[in-house]
Amino acid sequence: MSDAARAKAFGYGGDYNPEQWAPEIWREDVELMKRAGVNLVSVGIFSWARIEPRDGEFDFAWLDDVLDLLHQGGIRVDLATATASPPPWLALKHPELLPVTADGVTLSSGSRQAYCPSSPVYRHYAARLVRAIVDRYAEHPALALWHVNNEYGCHVSRCYCDASATAFRSWLEQRYSTIEALNDAWGTAFWSQHYAAFDEILPPRAAPTFKNPTQLLDFDRFSSDELLACFRAEKEIIRSRSTVPITTNFMGFFKPADYWAWAREVDIVSDDSYPDPADPLSPVYGAMQRDLMRSLGGGKPWLLMEQSPGAVNWRERNAAKRPGQMRAWSYQSIARGADGIMFFQWRQAVAGAEKFHAGMVPHSGTDTRIFREVEQLGSELAALSEREGPLGAAVPASVAVVLDWDSWWAIEQEASPTAIDYLAGVFAWYRALFAAGATVDFVRPTDDLARYAVVVVPSLFVADDAQLAALAGYAADGGTLVVGYQSAILDKDLHVRTGGYLGALQQTLGIRIEEFAPPAAPDLAALGGGEPPRLRVRGDAIGGTGSASLWAEYVRADSAEVRVVFDGGVLHGFPAVTRRRSGSGEAWYVATLLDDDALLVLLDGIMTSAGVERGPRVPGVEVVRRGRHLIAINHTDEPVEIDLPGADLLTGAGASGRTLEAQGVAIVGGLP
Ligand code: GAL
Repeated sequence: MSDAARAKAFGYGGDYNPEQWAPEIWREDVELMKRAGVNLVSVGIFSWARIEPRDGEFDFAWLDDVLDLLHQGGIRVDLATATASPPPWLALKHPELLPVTADGVTLSSGSRQAYCPSSPVYRHYAARLVRAIVDRYAEHPALALWHVNNEYGCHVSRCYCDASATAFRSWLEQRYSTIEALNDAWGTAFWSQHYAAFDEILPPRAAPTFKNPTQLLDFDRFSSDELLACFRAEKEIIRSRSTVPITTNFMGFFKPADYWAWAREVDIVSDDSYPDPADPLSPVYGAMQRDLMRSLGGGKPWLLMEQSPGAVNWRERNAAKRPGQMRAWSYQSIARGADGIMFFQWRQAVAGAEKFHAGMVPHSGTDTRIFREVEQLGSELAALSEREGPLGAAVPASVAVVLDWDSWWAIEQEASPTAIDYLAGVFAWYRALFAAGATVDFVRPTDDLARYAVVVVPSLFVADDAQLAALAGYAADGGTLVVGYQSAILDKDLHVRTGGYLGALQQTLGIRIEEFAPPAAPDLAALGGGEPPRLRVRGDAIGGTGSASLWAEYVRADSAEVRVVFDGGVLHGFPAVTRRRSGSGEAWYVATLLDDDALLVLLDGIMTSAGVERGPRVPGVEVVRRGRHLIAINHTDEPVEIDLPGADLLTGAGASGRTLEAQGVAIVGGLP
């Protein structure tokens, strides 16, 4: 690892909202932060109304004091541009900046994020605020990072107002140049939708029935781009005056924003992560989210910007984290590439809509489990920063999963063969890879795939020819390609790939798809409930028999071996899983959603023959390699026995045959 790649210490801290507290408390905060090992806090995220209480009148005195106090305490600042929540005076003066839903409802201020991303008025006032903040603090010695806005699109990711309509038209003109090209792409010969000019086009507002699919997809692409344009505008202002790194906080697998495009624009990827402590699958989902963050940054260290130290306040039922769970999940982030662990928020609020959301300093004070766990983690991370540990190191992965926002947007549209939840499908594949002990990178089809022994492609519903050629080339050149159902059905304009679907992958996979046949319950069953329909499948590649659900189809295996078949029902004997040698590699096709056990057996076998190295497998324990370290995390509430090749950096406990307590963590170094 180069010196440049090695950060000096793990970042540790959280969102700090001093405007909610009296200045006496600020002093106490800094003392407590020092006690807890906090070295980085995010300040000013929701401070617009406090910084600019009236149009053009800026009050920085309080923020000067806060930043100076933090600096004196040795705490660095991730300074926000404060544009996430416009103040009430601005909406009163310019109601046209308020967002409008597809149904025509205008959303008011009094909450947060009440602005249309395309509004020139919003952008004008936001830019003025950012200039004022950057002018004031660009040279402040506490400044470590710029935090642009906050969770772009979290509440308002799409706006259907007139300003959005104007911006959508220019975006479309850029994309298509001529109205004829748009009419072709959108297939407007259908249902009398032909446009004579760009001026006639509207956002996909509420309509009598199914909207134009390509218009919907273009509006998704446009809306992600518009939010990104807001980010870029702020970034340019900052960059013209400051060389300090710039980030904006992502939200894991967030459908409205294509983070592949966003990740290119940030200096460091940062993420907000709130898995449900009550959900037994949360450790696996959390692992998947962290793998995405590392992948978005091309493998570089990323920052966990927000997690909760305990319960959140926005679920119907808000489970507290169990003892040790916050620590275990923090080390999961570190294991999967994070160089900083931060929380929402520092001090638990006493007023406002988030007063029941946990804070690092709880309502009940410092003599509490939460604060003790916060202190413990802070001191461990400080100690770990001092020695040769995972900080700054890369996380090796030899398996990749393709993730594609166009496919996510398109496959979940109305008027499809069956309702498919894209992310649930990706998660099914990920769960099997996780259970089989593989570390996974997320990729795009045109990334450098040759680095991976196995590439899994879940429902790449929308694909252009270049993407399909890249996947085909990967298999031909020796890779193991595993393609899931509902892939390459449509091109980028959402036009069908006729003649058996799949485009260039037909040859690679050696199959054609003749007809879709998803197992559907009669609509009347919805009235009486009942089990979702299941299919039976059989074949050695899944260890005998198994079950499947959600999707099925009539596959014709032209030049592929059939490794698993549907067993019973109308699809009896038709291929469910096929395999074909392709050049020096191989290509698998999976025509249904296999149950977890069957998918695990299938992928385990595929990874074994592709030579994918994996760590020790103990049920409930996650083991990940980062740099020369192995990190083991017990996600269960019972102690487990595990063999690890070395002494634990956290506790000093000796090598092999150790017990990991409930929610316990061990880090061993010295791997070759
Ligand atoms: C995030 C947000 C924070 C806070 C937190 C509560 O979405 O960025 O400001 O609201 O959720 O969980």
